[in-house]
Amino acid sequence: MKDKLIIFDTTLRDGEQSPGASMTRDEKLRIARQLERMRVDVIEAGFAAASNGDFESVRAIAEAIKESTVCSLARASEADIRRSGEAIAPAARGRIHTFIATSPIHMEKKLRMTPDQVVEQAVKAIGWARQFTDDVEFSAEDAGRSELDFLARIFEAVIAAGARTINVPDTVGYNVPDQFAATLRSLIERVPNADKVVWSVHCHNDLGLAVANSLAAVRVGARQVECTINGLGERAGNASLEEIVMAVRTRADIFPVETGIDTTQIVPASKLVSQITGYPVQPNKAIVGANAFAHESGIHQDGVLKHRETYEIMRAEDVGWGANKLVLGKLSGRNAFRARLIELGIEIESEEHLNHAFARFKELADKKHEIFDEDLTALMRDEAVTPELEHYRLLSSRFHSETGETPLAAITLAVGGAEKHAEAEGSGPVDAAFKAIESVVSSGSELLLYSVNAITTGTDAQGEVTVRLSRSGRVMDGQGADTDIIVASAKAYLNALNKLHAGTARLNPQVGP
Ligand code: KIV
Ligand code: ZN
Repeated sequence: MKDKLIIFDTTLRDGEQSPGASMTRDEKLRIARQLERMRVDVIEAGFAAASNGDFESVRAIAEAIKESTVCSLARASEADIRRSGEAIAPAARGRIHTFIATSPIHMEKKLRMTPDQVVEQAVKAIGWARQFTDDVEFSAEDAGRSELDFLARIFEAVIAAGARTINVPDTVGYNVPDQFAATLRSLIERVPNADKVVWSVHCHNDLGLAVANSLAAVRVGARQVECTINGLGERAGNASLEEIVMAVRTRADIFPVETGIDTTQIVPASKLVSQITGYPVQPNKAIVGANAFAHESGIHQDGVLKHRETYEIMRAEDVGWGANKLVLGKLSGRNAFRARLIELGIEIESEEHLNHAFARFKELADKKHEIFDEDLTALMRDEAVTPELEHYRLLSSRFHSETGETPLAAITLAVGGAEKHAEAEGSGPVDAAFKAIESVVSSGSELLLYSVNAITTGTDAQGEVTVRLSRSGRVMDGQGADTDIIVASAKAYLNALNKLHAGTARLNPQVGP
């Protein structure tokens, strides 16, 4: 019998700390449902004290998810922990994950606390959290740069106070595999009652070693890995869930553990997260990249045709490739449309909502014969836009671009209900469209990123555009999809502006005291 490796997904919390990747409550709910379908053990649903919106998201996920444990992050303060406790209260299984920094540099420069004070605060935090749930996890932030003796001391104290999971984060991605494994091995050997808790790791990818470090830790006793879909997360991101899960499964000969993950849900989860956050997946990304199972060279193709295992160590279908089957077309009816949305885990709020979405689906099916799951997901993402995210709306557009002529965009927008029209020239039609929008909106924001991706294959595919805007230190990503990429670009630009317009202030758990 192998040990169980607990998969703790933090896409909705650490993943959301990626610049511009903030998600709405409904988007988070959809990702949480997909994680549950994939049989993730623990879903870190957010940082409840960050804002009212974050609190509501964690609570909504705690209400909706029945199979996975729902967790909220909390700094080691009574107020944060109370907020987390309230947010996870409806969960069938709820966890509070509390943390405090333990490296000399963080304690001295960030917390301005002595090591004794840090231990005392951590112990108090466990006591506060235990008032809400028995399932309490403790993290020593920046453990990767902390002193081993101090880690052993604080872990002993929080275990005695009632922590059930001890997490060892390499917060700044500084460790290398053999050294990180040695740290974990020593801690497990020397901390009293180490066998009463689950040892967990949480590795960042600053040196590209997050997965390698996590797997090295698993080989010496870690039984929980914290990870994210597509490796999303602060800076260079976290360990990617798909790589951890498939490494453990493919190399069952060397890992003494198994996960409970339904691996066929991996690619759908990756696509959903990419669509919602607007973070494209690089084609050569392991497991979920478009080329992960593509063989280019003739020798490889020949080998695979003769015997697949000559060049393939995993089967594409085992991770969910091929799941984007053709689902609907122009002649599909309302019932087929509804049934597919339900299968995709997309909630239909009312008959009116369904009718509206179905009308948009028919418009899309007129332009594009084959409608794939990804098209439906993008369509329903636009449908899910709430009124506060619709201060600016594209009513109509006209673009002119001809060889030797200056491109021109003419757009009509609804701005808080009033209709506004503008025209502008640009170096290309997208530039002209953004200038026309800005001539109406005067947002004062800076364009940081513009990217276009085809949602599916074929020249009739919808283009999905991500636009990242920054204003007064806040960064927001917007997405838009359309068969016309200039229209998709204008929609994405407006989506980012709407998020900046609606934006509520949220705290980053790891910044400040
Ligand atoms: O990277 C980190 O240290 C974290 C902790 C809050 C677990 O995200
Ligand atoms: Zn982290």
